[in-house]
Amino acid sequence: MTNETTENKPPQKLRVLSGIQPTGRFHWGNYFGAIRQYIDLQDAGDSYYFVANLHALTTVRDAALLRQLSLDAALDLLALGLDPNRATLYLQSDVPEVSELCWLLMTGTPMGLLERCHAYKDKKAKGLTADAGLFTYPVLMAADILIYDANIVPVGEDQVQHIEVCRDIAGSFNHHFGETFVLPKAQLLDGSARVPGTDGEKMSKSYNNTLELFEEPAAQRKKIMRITTDSRPMEQPKEPDTDHLYQLYSLFANDQQRADMAALYRRGGFGYGEIKKALAELAEKYFAEPRARRAELASNPKRIAEILGDGASRARRKAAEVLNRAKKAAGLVL
Ligand code: ADP
Ligand code: TRP
Repeated sequence: MTNETTENKPPQKLRVLSGIQPTGRFHWGNYFGAIRQYIDLQDAGDSYYFVANLHALTTVRDAALLRQLSLDAALDLLALGLDPNRATLYLQSDVPEVSELCWLLMTGTPMGLLERCHAYKDKKAKGLTADAGLFTYPVLMAADILIYDANIVPVGEDQVQHIEVCRDIAGSFNHHFGETFVLPKAQLLDGSARVPGTDGEKMSKSYNNTLELFEEPAAQRKKIMRITTDSRPMEQPKEPDTDHLYQLYSLFANDQQRADMAALYRRGGFGYGEIKKALAELAEKYFAEPRARRAELASNPKRIAEILGDGASRARRKAAEVLNRAKKAAGLVL
């Protein structure tokens, strides 16, 4: 069966899935690029969101730290509005079916496909040694997605290549063994698929340029004041759209505030310090409610364990069904 025939089937139920790695505290890029979409999509159909702790093992190799970051990740997602009654939230490692499907998929994945993937390629280009986990990372990601028949995967721009790999792997499996998997699509948010960091590069935990969601306000204000800016004289008009401070401000501003700020840039004669202060205030207000909710949730770890346990049972039911379908198709069930 080709990709086309799978896609030409009558529209199925919308099934949304995404995962996020607990490799550090979540930042504005994670929220505006990915997490905000998770929350918006939780009523769009069946939705599954997970803390990708198996993927995180390729970078975090400290058990206590991984436990802490995984709990932080779950708390953050819940505090930001993920509702366990409307979406299924779980830890990736609590669904062992995914690892089993990963092997099945791995046997049909060409090395060349993985050699082109950026996480591995970038590490190699930097002369760092990569392990088999990092190399096969996109296959585990494909298993994560395919095992829930997910058709929509909300992510930031940097994950699009991985979703394409997932489609290739699924298409090839379907071709060999008959139609088994649904082909997923990446879903990006306009305007925030690539949030810049304090240095203007893509905001990322690995670049030390993040503004975290639940950082202490005073510490965060200091970081905001250190956002890099150009050294052109204050009087000179500037183009807002290519300026990362303006882009960050725009994430929090309403239409009027954004238009006023753009006009100020084009007029010139302003100091960046004022804009940074305004940005710090807007950001603090924006996350004030989730911050309070997070503190409340953090005081009840039993409830978090319950939510994740319940999420894992729901996820495993669906995962077992699809894994069985794939095993039958591949001749593993006698
Ligand atoms: P990081 O690069 O900080 O390690 P992850 O790779 O864990 O972030 O990304 C988690 C999710 O957040 C992914 O869906 C990713 O696309 C999204 N994301 C990460 N950084 C950004 C960014 N700067 N802008 C938009 N989305 C981002
Ligand atoms: N690789 C993703 C990231 O770094 C995390 C992830 C793992 C994921 N499995 C996934 C995202 C499945 C979407 C779907 O952000």
